[in-house]
Amino acid sequence: MEQLKSFFNGKSIKNILDIGTGAGDFVKVLDDTFGDSVAIVGTDPGEQWLKEARERFPKEHIQFIRMEGEKLGFNDDSFDVVSISNALHHLKDIEQGFSEMKRVLKPNGWVVINEISDGDLNEAQENQKMLHHFKSFVDRLHGISHKKTWTKEEIVDIVKENGVDVQLSFPHEKMKKANFDEVFLDERYQMMENLLEELQGRPEHEKMADKLALFRERLDKHGFQMATQLMVVGQFT
Ligand SMILES: C[S@@+](CC[C@H](N)C(=O)[O-])C[C@H]1O[C@@H](n2cnc3c(N)ncnc32)[C@H](O)[C@@H]1O
Repeated sequence: MEQLKSFFNGKSIKNILDIGTGAGDFVKVLDDTFGDSVAIVGTDPGEQWLKEARERFPKEHIQFIRMEGEKLGFNDDSFDVVSISNALHHLKDIEQGFSEMKRVLKPNGWVVINEISDGDLNEAQENQKMLHHFKSFVDRLHGISHKKTWTKEEIVDIVKENGVDVQLSFPHEKMKKANFDEVFLDERYQMMENLLEELQGRPEHEKMADKLALFRERLDKHGFQMATQLMVVGQFT
């Protein structure tokens, strides 16, 4: 990613920790940005994600380890960069997450936060937000921490409130335009249908069933596009 590349140009970066790495989508961004000479460790509590990530990145300088962002099993002052992409809103304890990032970062290390954002979304992106909010609603009913999409201002505020001096922030698009491919749209619809299935027998089912019908209509009309993401880079003060 060009903005990240030029920001880190000339800075000595030897290793990166990516928290909440999932199947490694952000590891791909980091690997493309920093290259093979920088070691990357991706961590996530979900073993099924890590299995997928390991298969995607059979590279010596990249490894994946199971752990939660609030309890990192690394020594103090271990990494030059700590990143967390689309996972901050999954943390049970955001403050503790930041405190762990600060602990494992080397002095003057860099924190990179990437988050999907709300505000100024087109209709196709509103569809992604709708699916995200449906998923976060169902997760919360199951007792799993999963917050709604924050606005760009809220993301920056959270980062600053947790002691980070923000030095770079920019919005970017993972998908440049709405996708209208039938199979792709059917898969998104299926995801919401599966989530609704999990609500069978609960009082919330009826209200959410209405959302499913609306989602189908909106998908056919507007397509589906990832919401704009906000990249924030800074250092702990
Ligand atoms: C939407 S995915 C993001 C994946 C990837 N980083 C990306 O940018 O596409 C959110 C990830 O956060 C992980 N997660 C959930 N709770 C977490 C926690 N307490 N600490 C770290 N990661 C967590 C989930 O397992 C999931 O893989």
